[in-house]
Amino acid sequence: MALRSLLLGAVAAGHLAAAASVTCSASAPLSCHNTTSYDTCCLNYPGGHLLLTQFWDTNPATGPSNSWTIHGLWPDHCDGTYDSSCDSSRAYTNITQILQAAAPSTLQYMQTYWKDYTGNDETFWEHEWGKHGTCISTLKPSCYTNYQPTQEAVDFFSKTVALFQTLPSYSWLSAAGIVPSSTATYTLSAIQSALTSRFGYAVTINCNSNKELNELWYHYNVQGSVQSGNFQPADPVGSGSTCPSTGIKYLPKPGGATTTTATTLTTTTTSAAATGTPLSGKGYLNVVTGGTQTGCIISAGTWYTSGTCATFTATASGSGFTLTSSKGKCAISSNALTCASSVTTATVFSYDGTYLTYGGSSSFYATAVPSGTTQSTVYTSSQSVSLKITWQAQ
Ligand SMILES: *[C@@H]1O[C@H](CO)[C@@H](O)[C@H](O)[C@H]1NC(C)=O
Ligand SMILES: *[C@@H]1O[C@H](CO)[C@@H](O)[C@H](O)[C@H]1NC(C)=O
Repeated sequence: MALRSLLLGAVAAGHLAAAASVTCSASAPLSCHNTTSYDTCCLNYPGGHLLLTQFWDTNPATGPSNSWTIHGLWPDHCDGTYDSSCDSSRAYTNITQILQAAAPSTLQYMQTYWKDYTGNDETFWEHEWGKHGTCISTLKPSCYTNYQPTQEAVDFFSKTVALFQTLPSYSWLSAAGIVPSSTATYTLSAIQSALTSRFGYAVTINCNSNKELNELWYHYNVQGSVQSGNFQPADPVGSGSTCPSTGIKYLPKPGGATTTTATTLTTTTTSAAATGTPLSGKGYLNVVTGGTQTGCIISAGTWYTSGTCATFTATASGSGFTLTSSKGKCAISSNALTCASSVTTATVFSYDGTYLTYGGSSSFYATAVPSGTTQSTVYTSSQSVSLKITWQAQ
């Protein structure tokens, strides 16, 4: 009976996680809740209490002015103590190259949302990986079948980004009226309740010595592996919030570009973003299908899922904006998006607070989801695949 359910669980998990190299039984225990010993490739141990931590840096500012940024993913012990720098042989010093080769869209996202306040992102990523990532038991090379060097670091960064995208702190706070201000102050209980009502559990809320809100820690236990397991929100353990109970400042980020992010799009249905806001400046056009980011638009205006996203420049025009890539102006021509030097009149697009719109509609289409080196034309007329396009400011 036990064997049978274990096998069925393994088969089911295997189907779901075709691309993952660690397959864990659906009956693997929840970390910090196991009552017997279990394979540490499928039970995070001893670091079973995972924290997704976020920064609000204002001096100097990092990241978009309307988003928190990623600090890291930390495997604390169940009592809040933790191990660090667990495997110097895997303290990689080429995180950018590793991700460029294996997960370019994760890298691109990190270049906006996982920022070092001194400007040295690579060193910061190396530190987070080497100090914390190498202590995650389910990421040990021996847990992988056909392990390829550095693939566990790719899993670490991809998972951290994916978790961060489910935790839009800026939107959660702003929906409760807690917005950056150089004059307002907030109470700890108001901030806690704004976040707890969304996350489901208390969040560790940290301030610097000037009572300025600067860090949030979201706590989880994990059933199965970090790579493909189920992250379950949990109560904090360890040191408590460092903010005072009243008089907390939440300072604006000076000079940051405002962006509506892929982070907020899936969760902010009652978005505070104004509708019809024109976009301006440089950014990426990400493609969303079925609520998930699936590649992006490249310089010719086509949709691609496996390469580097093109930078577009949005310039205010009329009630909206035009878009330009390195290939030239972008236009809707014969119901298809094209960016080329031959385009003489750029089309005016709009933005509904979440998605790019054309002619009042945020729906775009393709005849197929591209894969490998294939590109798909993006149409404004109905085709078999429906997609939406988001703006990620650079
Ligand atoms: C939980 O699993 C770990 C790893 O197998 C083991 O060392 C630990 O003793 C287990 N805890 C309990 C209470 O059985
Ligand atoms: C990164 O460095 C590791 C060794 O530290 C090496 O195995 C790997 O091939 C390098 N990856 C890239 C993409 O350069």
